[in-house]
Amino acid sequence: MVTSRETATGAADRAARPLKMGMIGIGVGGAEMLLLMEVAPEIDLMCGADINPITRRRFQARYENARVYDSAEALCKNPEVEAVWISSPNRFHAEHTILALNHGKHVVVEKPMALSIQQAEQMIRAAEKNGVKLMAGHTRAYTHPIRAMRKIILSGKIGKLCAINVIAYTDWMLRPRSAEEQDPLQGGGIPYRQGPHQIDTIRVLGGGKLRSVRGMTGQWMPERPIPGYYAGYMEFEDGTPVTLVHNGYGYFMGAELVPWGTSAQRYNLEERIEVRRQMETHSRDEEADKQDLRIGGEAEEREFRRYTPAGKPWVPEDLGLLIVSCERGDIRHSAHGLYVYDDDGLHDIDLTPDRIMGGAGQRRAELEEMYEAVIEGKPLYHDGNWGIGTLEATLALTESAREHREIQMTHQVALPVEYDAAFSFPYLEGR
Ligand SMILES: NC(=O)c1ccc[n+]([C@@H]2O[C@H](COP(=O)([O-])OP(=O)(O)OC[C@H]3O[C@@H](n4cnc5c(N)ncnc54)[C@H](O)[C@@H]3O)[C@@H](O)[C@H]2O)c1
Repeated sequence: MVTSRETATGAADRAARPLKMGMIGIGVGGAEMLLLMEVAPEIDLMCGADINPITRRRFQARYENARVYDSAEALCKNPEVEAVWISSPNRFHAEHTILALNHGKHVVVEKPMALSIQQAEQMIRAAEKNGVKLMAGHTRAYTHPIRAMRKIILSGKIGKLCAINVIAYTDWMLRPRSAEEQDPLQGGGIPYRQGPHQIDTIRVLGGGKLRSVRGMTGQWMPERPIPGYYAGYMEFEDGTPVTLVHNGYGYFMGAELVPWGTSAQRYNLEERIEVRRQMETHSRDEEADKQDLRIGGEAEEREFRRYTPAGKPWVPEDLGLLIVSCERGDIRHSAHGLYVYDDDGLHDIDLTPDRIMGGAGQRRAELEEMYEAVIEGKPLYHDGNWGIGTLEATLALTESAREHREIQMTHQVALPVEYDAAFSFPYLEGR
């Protein structure tokens, strides 16, 4: 039995006083969160804003009682909105966040938090000036298996953390991309978009404070003028080493490493061949494919709205295969939780409650953390200062690749040990 925050506070209490939330940028990333917001008791999804009229129409059709706006500013002017989820394109993250903060709204901003450290600092200052919360959201670090790994490390049951290795092979580069996503200056490419998942995760596991980053990026598909690969070597302040890799070109797929993985990928082998052919011959209608993944599209239904009460088994998809090594054991994902290899053998820790709202349920922790901070006055752990640490290491991958040198970190903060105090499972209690 896993215990988490909701069981501690009570879903009914939360439903009685939900956080009134709006979404700016109702795109593919937004679609992942909408499903979750619909069923999360702590959230009242009361409005959305998007410049795309099809998206606005479909949002209104799905949420009849919600307000729909054609600009971020119009949404921010609604005095009832307490918090805003920002999932507009990367280049707008800073602008929309600061706009919402200046209107007195709390903000959860998608990864990457911003395109530069300077932008992120302005966001933090705006939150402080207006006395509202800024949260750096939507990375795999919020999922139950990662939180459980952190608790095992902190418990000391298998000794001190010694090393982290994470390696992802995905079809990220084959998924439909808008024009702005194909511009590195607007935050396009694997390092900006996928780096934060791995980096936020390893920071949660390693305590938060990285000392240095060495990185290399790769761009070898002419049809995609953005990096589709990175490799990184990072060290925490105490010398703990981390290697991380993401290859998004979609030939070998990490999901193949588990027997059930091939049926759980975004595109199967034949579809990947066809997508590549269309891209090479310029016959792909990418805008239509992308819109189909947004609200109301057939692909949205297929990818994000499959309700699977028992949850689907884990596959090494966008985060990748993550292996944590401690002095007396290793930890990695299992089908429904974690494998812990220790001196007693192999333990399969079931974290199934994570799956109760389908795959999307994994991201619930972000909404809970924001809710608890705003409504219950608890600390916000993944605030702007935490987010800037992940952004700094993300940007350093590209900077290091360009300059062929190691980059020293200067914006790192620790994750307090009190974070996630209520999260518990039997392995922690004894063996
Ligand atoms: N694609 C994914 O699977 C995914 C998953 C998680 C997070 N994200 C994050 O979501 C963000 C958007 O990526 P996406 O893939 O959803 O792209 P997208 O193009 O599907 O979504 C962006 C949405 O913002 C809207 N928009 C653009 N400019 C706007 C403006 N000025 N004001 C209001 N709305 C505006 C667009 O019309 C679109 O609906 C990125 O930061 C990305 O990192 C994406």
